[in-house]
Amino acid sequence: MLEIVVATHNEGKLREVSAILKGLDARVLSLKDIAFEEEIIEDGADYLENAQKKSSAVARACGKIVLADDSGLEIDALEGKPGVHSARFGGGELDSQAKNHLVLDLLKNVPSEKRTARFRCIISIQLPNGEEFNCEGVCEGFITDCLRGVGGFGYDPIFFAPEYGKAMAELKPEEKNRISHRAKALDQARNFLEEIL
Ligand code: IMP
Repeated sequence: MLEIVVATHNEGKLREVSAILKGLDARVLSLKDIAFEEEIIEDGADYLENAQKKSSAVARACGKIVLADDSGLEIDALEGKPGVHSARFGGGELDSQAKNHLVLDLLKNVPSEKRTARFRCIISIQLPNGEEFNCEGVCEGFITDCLRGVGGFGYDPIFFAPEYGKAMAELKPEEKNRISHRAKALDQARNFLEEIL
């Protein structure tokens, strides 16, 4: 059976990618499974550069099929911030809850119709023969005015998904995995992987 390494240390992402790729005739491995401990500095100018940096560093180290995602939250009232810097917004030391409060604070005078935002996810897949596949998924929504729900990870408690009328963190995992930016990108990644499998 073919093996696909998911190049992330983020448990939330790993859970979602594994759930969405379930059913593929392949074994999904984590960085822990391949004992990859090197730190990859995500200093690319955009999501694609970061995703490629992660997928190629891990592919070089293990020689297997590697899938990396780089993603972020883009808030229109903040000119697209935090964007590619979503993981480190407000400084590397803030946890997710503090980052969510920081966003709510920055938007405290912004009315609901101007709180539009989107999650974006870029996936980069590297094959052992050097072939590469990249794709993108976007999920549109709004920033809430308080934290809602305990599911998901990262900015999910402050991202309102109009499809369900709920914050992402209030959704069941399978509901989030139907509409999320990651699910949309992974749909394309899955088609590509099915072809090569
Ligand atoms: P990176 O892709 O590892 O650089 O991290 C992206 C950051 O964006 C994560 O640490 C989260 O803060 C945020 N993010 C990406 N995808 C999601 C999601 O599905 N829900 C909530 N936050 C997300």
